[in-house]
Amino acid sequence: MNSKETRSAFLKFFTEKQHQIVPSAPMVVKNDPTLMFTNAGMNQFKDIFLGNSTAKYPRVANSQKCLRVSGKHNDLEEVGRDTYHHTMFEMLGNWSFGDYFKKEAIAWAWEFLTEVVKINKELLYVTVFGGDEKDKTEADNEAFALWKEIVPEDHILYGSKKDNFWEMGESGPCGPCSEIHIDLRSEEEKQRIPGRDLVNKDNPLVIEIWNLVFIQYNRQANGQLVPLADKFVDTGMGFERLCMVLQQKQSNYDTDVFQPLIQAIARVANLSYGADNKADIAMRVIADHLRAIAFAIADGQLPSNTGAGYVIRRILRRAVRYGYTFLHLSSPFLCELVDVLVQQMGEHFPELQTQKDIISKVMREEEAAFLRTLANGIQRFDTYIDEHKNATTIDGDFAFELFDTYGFPIDLTRLMAEEKGYTVDMDGFNRGLEQQKARSRKAAEVETDDWVEVFASEQPTTFVGYDTLTAETRIVKYRKVKAKNKQFFQLVLQCSPFYAESGGQVGDRGVLMNGEEKIAITNTIKENNLNICLSETLPANVSANFTAVVDEDKRHRTENNHTATHLLHAALRQVLGTHVAQKGSLVNEDRLRFDFSHFAKVTPEEIRSVERIVNKHIRENIPLVEHRNMPIDEARKLGAMALFGEKYGEFVRVVKYDKSIEFCGGTHAKATGQIGMVKIISEGAIAAGVRRIEAITADAAENYLYELVDKEQELRALFNNTKDIKKAVEKLLEENRANEQKIADFAADKAKNLKDQLAAQLSATPLVQRFQLPADIVRNAGMMLQAEHPEANCVFGGVVDGKPYLQVQLSEALAQRLSATDIIREAAKEIKGGGNGKPTFATAGGKNPDGLDNALQKALEMIKSVLQ
Ligand code: SER
Repeated sequence: MNSKETRSAFLKFFTEKQHQIVPSAPMVVKNDPTLMFTNAGMNQFKDIFLGNSTAKYPRVANSQKCLRVSGKHNDLEEVGRDTYHHTMFEMLGNWSFGDYFKKEAIAWAWEFLTEVVKINKELLYVTVFGGDEKDKTEADNEAFALWKEIVPEDHILYGSKKDNFWEMGESGPCGPCSEIHIDLRSEEEKQRIPGRDLVNKDNPLVIEIWNLVFIQYNRQANGQLVPLADKFVDTGMGFERLCMVLQQKQSNYDTDVFQPLIQAIARVANLSYGADNKADIAMRVIADHLRAIAFAIADGQLPSNTGAGYVIRRILRRAVRYGYTFLHLSSPFLCELVDVLVQQMGEHFPELQTQKDIISKVMREEEAAFLRTLANGIQRFDTYIDEHKNATTIDGDFAFELFDTYGFPIDLTRLMAEEKGYTVDMDGFNRGLEQQKARSRKAAEVETDDWVEVFASEQPTTFVGYDTLTAETRIVKYRKVKAKNKQFFQLVLQCSPFYAESGGQVGDRGVLMNGEEKIAITNTIKENNLNICLSETLPANVSANFTAVVDEDKRHRTENNHTATHLLHAALRQVLGTHVAQKGSLVNEDRLRFDFSHFAKVTPEEIRSVERIVNKHIRENIPLVEHRNMPIDEARKLGAMALFGEKYGEFVRVVKYDKSIEFCGGTHAKATGQIGMVKIISEGAIAAGVRRIEAITADAAENYLYELVDKEQELRALFNNTKDIKKAVEKLLEENRANEQKIADFAADKAKNLKDQLAAQLSATPLVQRFQLPADIVRNAGMMLQAEHPEANCVFGGVVDGKPYLQVQLSEALAQRLSATDIIREAAKEIKGGGNGKPTFATAGGKNPDGLDNALQKALEMIKSVLQ
C-alpha cells in the first residue's frame, strides 16, 4: 500500500464506522496560550472535552498535521538521528465525544490493523495504564480485560504514567492510554530477546504506532486532576510509521512519503543517500525540517525573533547548518526543494500548492540571511574549540556570543558542541540571556489561578454583540491573573455583547452595571473559544444580574477600520492581481494594518488607484450582507475569501459588501458610507514577498487631510502667502544652490591668495604659520603650494570655532626619512587629537586649542632634528 492508499484506507474504515471525516486544523495554534503548535489530533477538539463547545458529530476521524518541537511534546533532538521521529508528521485519529468508549476504540483499532491493512498479529504488543500513586489514579484493568479478549496475555503490558497517561501539555484534557507497538526485527533477533522486553525501550524496530487515549480528566494549572463531565476517545496513529510498516521498510525515510525529498536533497548536494552516515543524517534532518517550515509558513507563521516565529526560525537555521556542514551547501537550498514537496503533498494539503511562491521566497531570504553569519560563526566556534582543547564544557558566555552575534540558536550550539564531545554551560548561557531579557523586558510572567465557577450549570458565553451593544447577563465564572505585579480578573459572561479580540480586530471595552456599581471592562479576549472580559476589580456580588454595555465609540471606529480592511483587500486584488493574499491584519479604533503577499513595492500610482476604488465603494454606501451560519461549501461557492492557517468549522460567517466577500467573524459597519473615507498612510516590506499597508478612516482620515492643508497654509505664510508654494520653494532652492557655489568660489580664491602669500615666505624653511582660517582653505592652499614648490617643508595650524587643526607637509626627500603622518600623530597629542595622511602630507583635528602652539613647536622640532 502506498501512502495515499494508506491514508484513504484509514478514513474509509472509520467512515464505515459512522465517523464524520473532518479536515486537519492548522498546524499553528492561534488562540490557546498553552500551545504554540498543534501537537496532537485532539487539540482542535480541546474545547469540546472541556465543555466550552458542543460536538457537531459524536464521532469524527481525520489526518492531522502536527508539529512537536516545543513544550511537553518535543521530538526535535531525535529527528534524523533515528529513523522514526519527526518534527512535523501526520497523525491519523478517531474520536468519540461522549459516544463509544474503550470497548469499541480497542476493537476497531485491532480490526483496522489486523484485518484491513493485515498486519501480522504476532508482531503487535499493547500497553495499558498501570495507575499512579501521586495522582491517585488506578490501573486501567478495564482496558486490560478488553485487550485480553483479542490479544494473548503475554503481548499485553502495564505501563507507567510517563508512557500510559497522555497529556496535551502542562494543563488541559488528559487520561489513561493504551498504546499499540510493533516489533519489526528479524526472526533471529526475536529469538534472542522477546519483543515485550523492548517495548518503550527506544529500539528503532520496536516502536509505538497507535495511541488510544481515554480522556476523562482536566489537568488544572495547580496540577490537580478534575474529572470531566463526559468521557472521550482520542486516538492517534503515526501515519509515516504506518507507511513504513506497510511498505516493509525499516525507516520512515525509506517510504514514498520521504524518498522523493531525500533524493532531491541528494541531487542538490551531488551525493547519494546511503553512502555516508553523517550525510544521511543531514539529509533526513533537512527532509524533516523542510516539511515543518513549509507547512508553518503555509499556515501563516513567518520566521521571526519571538514565540512561534522563533521556533520556525530555529528549525530553519538547524537545517541550513546541517546542509552547510555535512552536505557542503553554502547557498540557499531549502527554497529549491519546495517544488518537490508541493508535488508530493500538495494534493492532500492544497495550502502548500497555493502558497508555494511565498514559501520559497521566505525560505530563500531566511537562508541567505543566516548563511551570511553562519560561516563566521562556525569559524569562531572552531577557533574556540582549538583554544579549549582540554576543556569539556563550552563557556556560557561564548554560547551567548554565538547566539547574540551570529544568530546561532542555543540548540544549534549544543548540537555542534556535542558533535565535538563538549557540553554547553547552560546556566551561563541562560544568565546571559536573562540579562539581555531583563534589559528589554516588557511583559513579565503571568500567573493564572484556576476558574471559580459562579453558575456552574450555565452554558458558555453566547456572543450577542453582532446585534446589540447592551445585554442583561450574569458572570458564569471568573479567575484571578497576576502579571507584572498587577492583578486583574478574567470574567466569562453568560451572554456577552463584548467582541473578543480575534481575526485581527481588537477586543471591546465597556462596563458591567448592577445598580450603582460599575465595573469597567478594559478588554475582551478569546482563549480556547471562551469569550473572556478583563476587569481590574470584581463586583461586590459576583452572582448578581448585570447590564453589560459596550463602549460604542471605540466599537464603531474599529468597525469602520475593519470594513475598510475588507474593501482594501478586494481593491488590492483588483489593482495588483489575485496573488494578493492576506498575511496578517490588525484593526483597532485608530487605524488598520494589513499585510499581504506581493513581490514588489506598491507604487504611488497603484496606491492612489486602490484608494480611489475603496472611496468610491464608500460613497456607494453598500449595505452589509451577513450570512451568520452558512455551510462552508456554499460560502466557497459564493466566492468568499478564506485565510490560510485559519480554522473554520462546517458553518461559517460570511461578510459581504457587494463584490468583497470574506469569511470573517468580526464586527462591521452597517453600510460602507459610515467609513467616510479611507487614506493609506504607509506602505513597505515586512518580509520577503510580504508588504504592509497602514490606513486610517472616517474622522482620522479627515484630520489627516486637515493637517496637510494647515501645513501648506503655514508654509505659504512663510513665503508671504504666495499662491504657488511649489514655485516659491523651487526658487529658494535655486538661490541656495547659487549661494553655495559663490561660497565655494570665494574659498577657492582665498586658498589661492593664501598660497601666493605663503610661497613668498618660503625662504625660511621649514615654514611655520598659525591661521584664523577654516581648515579646508588651509589644506587647499597647502596642496597648491606643494604642487608648485615640492621642496618646501611646512607646519600649519589654526583654531576655528574653538577646534584646533594641524597640517604638516614635507618634501619627498625629507618624507623618506621622517613621514608627515608620524609627525602629525606625535604633535596632535598636544591638541588632544589624532590624524592621518600620507608621508608628504598629513592633517589632524583636535579638542584642545590651548595646545596648538606646543603642537606647532613639536612638529617643527621633529623636522629640524632630521634636517640637521
Ligand atoms: N492524543 C494522543 C497522542 O497524541 C492520541 O491521539 O498520542
